[in-house]
Amino acid sequence: MPEVRRAVCPGSYDPPTVGHLDVITRAAALFAEVYVAILVNPRKEGLFAVEERVEMLTGITADLPGVRVESFRGLVVDYCRERGAQAMVKGLRGATDYDYELPMAHMNRHLSGVETLFLPGAPDQVYVSSSLVKEVARGGGDVTAFLPPSVHARLRERLA
Ligand code: PNS
Repeated sequence: MPEVRRAVCPGSYDPPTVGHLDVITRAAALFAEVYVAILVNPRKEGLFAVEERVEMLTGITADLPGVRVESFRGLVVDYCRERGAQAMVKGLRGATDYDYELPMAHMNRHLSGVETLFLPGAPDQVYVSSSLVKEVARGGGDVTAFLPPSVHARLRERLA
């Protein structure tokens, strides 16, 4: 039995939504330490720089004990090993997420033994995604309900 139960919540978080925050909060209730890990993806430029995402996530998780925010490059299993994490935690909003996530969970376990734990997305947030929020916001729609207030302020600034 490992001394510290440590988990990783990996993702793009461009930007972090209330759905992300819900999963991180629930992971923090299950594990002594949670690393929120933002993928640095050289093939995909985000709306927000990775450093900005680190800042946003650090701000919105500041009151959650045991949560740290970092970026990572390469394979998530290598990051998990470096941090001594036994599991990664991800939210599942529905069947599309499941179909996308299941092969990655198998592959990651094959590569490293790291388990993937899925938390069902909060029922009132299953239609929330970073990409949809950006699309609606770009079109002038109201996305207040889907983002923590500090993230919403940054998005408005970015799209102004
Ligand atoms: O928020 P996203 O974009 O759905 O997150 C996807 C992410 C970052 C969790 C996934 O693409 C990932 O783990 N990428 C790191 C590279 C990697 O390990 N790829 C092999 C997965 S089997």
